[in-house]
Amino acid sequence: MKIELLEEIDSTNLYIKKYLSLGEDIIVCAKRQTGGRGTKGRSFLSNEGGVYLSALRFYRDLPAKDGFRVMLNAAVAVCRVAQSYGLSPQLKWPNDVLLNGKKLCGILIENVLDGASLRASIVGIGLNVANDLSELQEIAISLSEALKTPVSVEEVRTRLISALQGEYSMEEYRSFVQFLGRDVTVIEGGKTYLAKAVAIEEDGRLRVKSAAEERLLSAAEISLRI
Ligand code: BTN
Repeated sequence: MKIELLEEIDSTNLYIKKYLSLGEDIIVCAKRQTGGRGTKGRSFLSNEGGVYLSALRFYRDLPAKDGFRVMLNAAVAVCRVAQSYGLSPQLKWPNDVLLNGKKLCGILIENVLDGASLRASIVGIGLNVANDLSELQEIAISLSEALKTPVSVEEVRTRLISALQGEYSMEEYRSFVQFLGRDVTVIEGGKTYLAKAVAIEEDGRLRVKSAAEERLLSAAEISLRI
């Protein structure tokens, strides 16, 4: 696997797109990002001390309907890295990794589709390791903070790159999801309603049951408050 380490870049997800035409898997890491991008058009704090990487992967025969596997693999890889430090991570479906209820890591996936197939995916991961999170202290946490001891960014980067080579099961993904069986607030379009989170389907959609009905929710369309 080709790996490139940059000192600084606007966004590894943006930068790695220049390799799309080469058709070769590659991982690009940066020590900091000046324009880190999050989901739903948000920005992502990317100061020195975190791991920021994007993995570009090409597929031969992956039906687009199985695209959730890409998210599942990335999320489980991050959870395994946290576990390797003795921590107990949880997933806020579909793509936030939490420790003690605070965000440890965010994942941004951009897919390249070719008809009904997934041709390539860019998996962008931002993991707080030893970076200063004082401006987000209510909602974010780093590995160093959780462990109350400095953690090496290089070591975490190496463990994450290695964990990303694995293929994980839906069962393992579900085992990290914190809120199954509990009530959640669903924000869908203009509507907000209470529902019980029942299950995560094989395609990654969340099944919820409200007083009125049972629904299958896709992450792109909703927000959840737990
Ligand atoms: C989110 O939580 O909203 C997703 C955050 C994803 C951040 C990572 S950092 C590496 C890659 N480059 C980016 O600009 N974003 C992703």
